Amino acid sequence: MPVRSIDVFADVVAKFDNDCNAFVAKLVQAQQDGALPVAIGPALRDFPGSWRSKFTAIEGDKSKMPLIVEIGCHTGQTLCDMAERHPEALFVGIDITFKRVVHTAERARDRGLKNVFVVLANAGGLAPLFSEGEVDGFVTFFPDPWVKKKHARNRLYSESFCSTVYRQLSARGFIWLKTDQLPYFEMACEFTESVGFRETASLPVFAAGDFSSLFLRRFELKGQPWYGRKWVKLNA
Ligand SMILES: C[S@@+](CC[C@H](N)C(=O)[O-])C[C@H]1O[C@@H](n2cnc3c(N)ncnc32)[C@H](O)[C@@H]1O
Repeated sequence: MPVRSIDVFADVVAKFDNDCNAFVAKLVQAQQDGALPVAIGPALRDFPGSWRSKFTAIEGDKSKMPLIVEIGCHTGQTLCDMAERHPEALFVGIDITFKRVVHTAERARDRGLKNVFVVLANAGGLAPLFSEGEVDGFVTFFPDPWVKKKHARNRLYSESFCSTVYRQLSARGFIWLKTDQLPYFEMACEFTESVGFRETASLPVFAAGDFSSLFLRRFELKGQPWYGRKWVKLNA
């Protein structure tokens, strides 16, 4: 059965009690009392189509604000850097671990960023999370490469993933990849370009500059190469 991002943690939320892992407790509690800008499990069901309204700390008309999604936001360094430099946009971070989602949301709160929201979900099943044309950009820096063939089904980039993000992107939407794995990079180029994306040198929102990440710095420190590409929709 295909993964559905929003159902993956439904059981964790349903069985939630005070004896569970501290990060699970914090996340579930924060979602209930609104202490952190986070969402998990079944609560996400009413998000598609109304993402912009979830940024409740931002007043006024948000319908024209670009919505950028970072998949695999880790502890939120890149997400918060992007959000700080671009207050004109809204940023959603997705990660699959409770601890990283909590750290990301706490980092955003501590930096006073109102334009950040964090979601615990499996991005392998992204389809139920956003409606068609709702997102303006997907940032995917150093997704887990799953280099062994027997683990290939866990890779983020697949034809199905690329078709899903293509549908979820607005007419001028983009996708941005960085990875240290050349075969992964080549495979991702094939998938993205086969579903209708074309390479671009410059992205809307991020035209003014690039962003680093924890993993990018790690690879650069070790003198290891990395590969990156930006795509927009073919007719954009
Ligand atoms: C190699 S780290 C890269 C972190 C960060 N993007 C960077 O460049 O420093 C991959 C991140 O993706 C998250 N991740 C892995 N599989 C995921 C999935 N299926 N859905 C959402 N996040 C996932 C991991 O928890 C981790 O934070």
